[in-house]
Parts: sequence; C-alpha cells; structure tokens
Amino acid sequence: MGTESYVPVCDLADLEAEGRTVVSEDGRTIALFYHEKEIYAVDNRCPHMGFPLVEGTVDEGMLTCHWHHARFELEEGDTFDPWADDVQTFPVELRDGQVFLDPDPEPTVEPATRWRNRLADGLQEDIPLVMAKATIGLDEEGMGFETPLRTAVDFGTKYRASGWGRGLTTLSYMAELYPQVAGRDKRRAMFTGVREVADDVAGEAPRFQQYAFRNRDLSKSRLKSWFRENCEVRDADGAERTLLTAIDALSPDEVVEMLVATATDHLYMDASHTLDFLNSALSTLDHLGWDEHAPAVLASTVPRFTDGTRSEELSSWRQPVDIAALCFDAHDRLDDLVAAGRNREWTEPNGFVETLLTDDPETILEALCDAIADGATQQELADAVARAATRRVAYFATNNEFGDWDTVHHTFVYANAAHELAARTDATELYRACFDGAMSVYLDRFLNSPRAPVPDADGGRAPEAIRSEILDALDEQGGVNRTARLVVEHFESDGDPADLKRVLGRGLLREDADFHTLQNVGAAFRRFDALEAPDERRLAMVAAARYLAAHTPTRREFEGTFSIATRLHRGERLHEAE
Ligand code: FES
Repeated sequence: MGTESYVPVCDLADLEAEGRTVVSEDGRTIALFYHEKEIYAVDNRCPHMGFPLVEGTVDEGMLTCHWHHARFELEEGDTFDPWADDVQTFPVELRDGQVFLDPDPEPTVEPATRWRNRLADGLQEDIPLVMAKATIGLDEEGMGFETPLRTAVDFGTKYRASGWGRGLTTLSYMAELYPQVAGRDKRRAMFTGVREVADDVAGEAPRFQQYAFRNRDLSKSRLKSWFRENCEVRDADGAERTLLTAIDALSPDEVVEMLVATATDHLYMDASHTLDFLNSALSTLDHLGWDEHAPAVLASTVPRFTDGTRSEELSSWRQPVDIAALCFDAHDRLDDLVAAGRNREWTEPNGFVETLLTDDPETILEALCDAIADGATQQELADAVARAATRRVAYFATNNEFGDWDTVHHTFVYANAAHELAARTDATELYRACFDGAMSVYLDRFLNSPRAPVPDADGGRAPEAIRSEILDALDEQGGVNRTARLVVEHFESDGDPADLKRVLGRGLLREDADFHTLQNVGAAFRRFDALEAPDERRLAMVAAARYLAAHTPTRREFEGTFSIATRLHRGERLHEAE
C-alpha cells in the first residue's frame, strides 16, 4: 500500500496532550495512543467481545482491555491471551505535526488462512468463542464446512491417544446435517462439530501413529486375518500396522470389508459405538478423500476394535436367555444360508418388522436366517432391523428411567450404521450386524412397555404455523408427545419434510445438545432419506422428535457464545461502553 492511502487523522499536539483518541476512517473506529514518545493505532473494538480499547490501560508497551482484561502488545497487536485474538494495528506516519494512518492496510495473512489458523488455536486451547468466530469467518470466506471439517479431523486424529471418539463422530454427524439445515444453522452445525472435537481431545495425551509394513506383497486374506487376530488379542499396535499396510496394499472396498468383518467378530461391540464410529469415519472420508486421509482417520479407529466391550461378556446377553450363544450359532450358519440364497430375490413377508419386535429371540433369529436363505441382501435385512430399532425410539414409554432413552438410541444408531455400511460392502459378515442389532432390539423390548402410541392428528393447518409450534414445544420440559403430535400434523397438512427437518435442526442446534441427541436426530434424518414408504419415513421423524423433545430445553450456553460471535462479526455493540 503506497503512502497515498494514508489519511490525516489528528494533530500530534492534541494526541500528546490527551494521550489517546479515537477516529473513524473507512467505516472502522480506530484508537490512537501516544505512549513512550511513539504513536500507535489499533482497532478500537477489542477482538474478544468488542469493548472500546481506547478506554483500556496502556503501560510498558502493553494495552489492557478493561472488560475481561485481555492484553495486547501495542506495536503489532499480538495478544498475550489467546482466547482474545490479536487486535489489528494500523501503520502511522507523522507529517508536519499531523498524524496520518493507513486505514486499510494489506493483510499480512489472507482472511481464510487467518480464520483457519484461529480455528486450530481454538481447537488446541478448547475455547468455544474462538471456534465460533473462526467457523463464522471461514463460512463468510466461502469455505463452507470443508475447511472446519478438515482442520478438526487433522487435529482430532492427532491429539487424542484413545483415537476416534464422540468428538469426531459428532463432527461427522454435523457434516451430514449441514445440507439439511438452513441459513445460520449451517454455521451452528459446524461450530457444534468442532467444539465437540476440542472438548473430547482436551486433556488427552497425543496419538503417535504407527507405520505400515514395508512388505506390500501381502494378500487380502492374510491382512484380514492378521487384523482380526490382533484385534482379538487387543493388540492395538499390531492391528494398526496391519491396517495401515492394508490401506496401502488393498482397494478401499477391501479395507472396508476387513473393518466390517472385525467390527462384527464380537457381538454389538462397545454398545454400538464400534460400528457407528467406523461408519462415521468412513462418511468423513467421503468428504475429505480416501487417498490423503484414510491412514490417519482409519488408524484412529483401531482402539474401538481392540478396547470395545464385547457384549457376549455381558450378563444381559447371557441371562436369562443365552442370546450370545444363539447369535454365534447363527454366525456359524451364515455361509450355508448365503449359498442357499444365491440368485434368489427376497420379498419381505408381511409383518416381518413386527416379528423382529417379538419377545422370542429364537423366532427373531430364525426369521432373519430364513430371509438370508431366501435371498435377502445385507442392505434389505439391515433396513428391516433399522425399522424395528426406529420403533423402539418412536414407541419409547416415558415411564422408563430417563437414561433408558440411551439404550434404545444405541440400538437405533447401530442398526442405522449397519444399513449405511451395507451400501459400501456386501461382506457376508455384515449379516452378523443384523443379528446383533435384532438381539439388541429384543433386549430393549420392555422399554416399549407400554408402547407410546404414535399420535393421530388432522391436517389442514398452515405448515408454517405447525413448525413454529414445534419450536415452542421443544422449548418446554416434557413436550415429548406434543412434539410428536405436531410432527404427525405437519405430515397430515402436506408440509414439506425438508422444512420439517430444518425446524427440528434448528431446535437441535440452538441447544447444548449432548452427543447422543446430536447423533439421534442426525441418524433419524438419514433414515428418513433412506426410506421410501411414507409411514416409515413419518415414523423416523416421530422418533427423532420424541428423542429431541425429551432432551430439550437446555441452558443454551453455546447458543450464547454463537450469538456473541455472530454479533461481533456483524460489528454490533456488545457493551454499553462502546
Ligand atoms: S477482553 Fe476485551 S472485550 Fe473481553
């Protein structure tokens, strides 16, 4: 920027006498200080929350804001307090007793790069306001969700010794939710995702990634066998080296087959998390690209395979009925069942999903085995189990303990993950996830006792009015059945389901929603998209609405943070002193 961009702003004598002043140039308010015989110019809005810095204290080359006491080095504006951000400074010149400054200096760093760096700072320090500002800034620069996603995945896979967890899974769910919500909720979705990654990583030891074997002349069956054996004996390092070698040596489809097989070697691993987290990691790779990110992303999932709970070790899977043994028997029959079903096309029998909801585990498993022998694909069977699991949430009786919502939720996300994985692989082992999911549906049966009725509602009202009432219902405690009835009324009134998703998305993202609520609504929206039958689609949304309503309202602390970041971004006043 040449000297012609400098403009006169005040007399040196006046500045010397007052020690400070504030000027407006090019729509910005700039604070000038005369300190230790030098002139300094900084943005008058404190980068933290906008307090007027001209009212701050200057001492020994340090400017201190009075609201939350952030401190800045006066010459370059660097902050001593990373939660506050650096303050912009402006070049000044003295000409004939007049102070000139350049109100629009060339940025030393491109805005998108600056926001990405700030997002990395926010993740590192786990500071929600910094992450909110950076997410908004990146969106403003047209970086959508991809840059936040990439930045948070790079961070989360590197700095959490225990690997892919609830934070990165939430991020993945938010990336999928992003296109389903509108306007500022897109920014809220990404803020939620990155914030959960930072929270999950905070206080953890970093991860040190292993290396692939040098030998690439290894067959798929050898690598698959090694991976399963290492996971079986809970050897995370051996499993990770094998997996990294497989990523180098095999196709993505073959790697997915290996992972799905191992995730189902034990029953309903980690109460659904192993399969769901694997599915989330693979969804994330769809956005980021396999070649560049598969090693870090997939290697970070290994602890879910080695450390996850094995449900056959739980008493609930052994007593009073040994359903674990029933599942393993069904696993042993799989090759014969698949051979019998080859070249056959399955038609789902009437009442098949009701059969999956009965209280006889042998009948349920036999129905699944018959379906495979009749040619049911993994995708068809996983879809049926997911529909049964959706009913457990939609029919959840509110006389249960509150924590029981999580039990039906876990079964639901497991079944949904199995169905989504079936779109990626036709591995025979995926049928095992159908058996396990169905057994978890069976174990949840008393949580539908009595079944909560799916509400009836007449149509005819304006869908906009119904959506507005849904937001009201989500704003009150105990609005479970009212919200579900409004969702049904929205369908009966021919409301656009996309609008319904947007309003439920808003109801979700304005809350301090926990991991399971974020997962549940996200998975239900995906179920809706995967289904064709109108009744099934409606039920998926009823289930989401009931779960969401049971978990709202919350304190909305993060909404406050997001609102501050938004107002700062718009240049609004946040403090009376401004
Ligand atoms: S420290 Fe300046 S506004 Fe908070």
